[in-house]
Amino acid sequence: MNTNKRPDDMIRITTPELANAFIDEQVADIKATVGDKKVLLALSGGVDSSVVAALLIKAIGKQLVCVHVNHGLLRKGEPEQVVKVFRDEMDANLIYVDAVDRFLDKLAGVSDPETKRKIIGKEFIEVFADEAKKLDGIEFLGQGTIYPDILESDGVKAHHNVGGLPEDLSFELVEPVKLLYKDEVRVVGKALGLPDNMVYRQPFPGPGLGVRCVGAITRDRLEALRESDAILRDEFAKAGLEGKVWQYFTVVPDFKSTGIKDGKRTFEWPVIIRAVNSVDATSATIEEIPYALLYKITDRILSEVKGVNRVLYDLSPKPVATIEWE
Ligand code: XMP
Repeated sequence: MNTNKRPDDMIRITTPELANAFIDEQVADIKATVGDKKVLLALSGGVDSSVVAALLIKAIGKQLVCVHVNHGLLRKGEPEQVVKVFRDEMDANLIYVDAVDRFLDKLAGVSDPETKRKIIGKEFIEVFADEAKKLDGIEFLGQGTIYPDILESDGVKAHHNVGGLPEDLSFELVEPVKLLYKDEVRVVGKALGLPDNMVYRQPFPGPGLGVRCVGAITRDRLEALRESDAILRDEFAKAGLEGKVWQYFTVVPDFKSTGIKDGKRTFEWPVIIRAVNSVDATSATIEEIPYALLYKITDRILSEVKGVNRVLYDLSPKPVATIEWE
């Protein structure tokens, strides 16, 4: 597949049968292209890179080297799930890089949102390049580019983190899902046996929780963010809302307010709940969370999350607000 243009007569992959035919075709194509060489892939655990990983594992097994960079800004359970699914269940060649301290040290004291994004992107490339340099015989780079990335950005994946590798690391690209739309990638992922919570995952920004830990990131506020987000996701799943709401998450701003706990005055952070619906993220409406569910989530956050004494519900659509807080 050498073209970046989706043929007009290409059938939309909507069924397991069509997905299986696509998988067979791609596996043959990957085998023919890669031969006995090795492919490197940055595996975030997002839908696109996970589907590409599963396709490559099916085609070339251990000739694929996956690198999972834990930058400390992932959601609760995500790094563990990547290791469990790919190393334990699919027997993949997976390098897990614990880069938490490296990222959080670089981000310490940085409050400007765009500077935070730049540091996260630059650091990611450096960590990934460091790992790549340790490996011998890699000739290809797998990428989870999908068709909207090509349409939006002339072929350079809009938010892709490994697009800026140094010149001494030049690889030939392997992009098996580059002509697929997101819904098709999910159908293929399901047919490849990936777990539902990976395949039907809500969109998650490249800089991860970094854009939701408002201002300068601190480890304790990041922990409050991760724990409150896990509670929100858990309660949405129990209420049957998983996969039905476009994006739902919590935000922890960098200010405190007074409260009272065990008869003592506190001065702690609020947690903000955000849940929106959208078609393409250019505009968004507010998900009307049922009151009983809001009450349950609030109760759990206030009793289970350290350093928090208030829960707020963001009712702002896009526009005027953006979906993320930074
Ligand atoms: P906003 O906040 O601009 O977000 O309304 C629109 C969509 O884009 C996601 N988003 C990002 N994704 N890198 C990404 O990969 C980023 O820096 C980034 N900022 C926002 C956001 O989650 C929403 O789905």
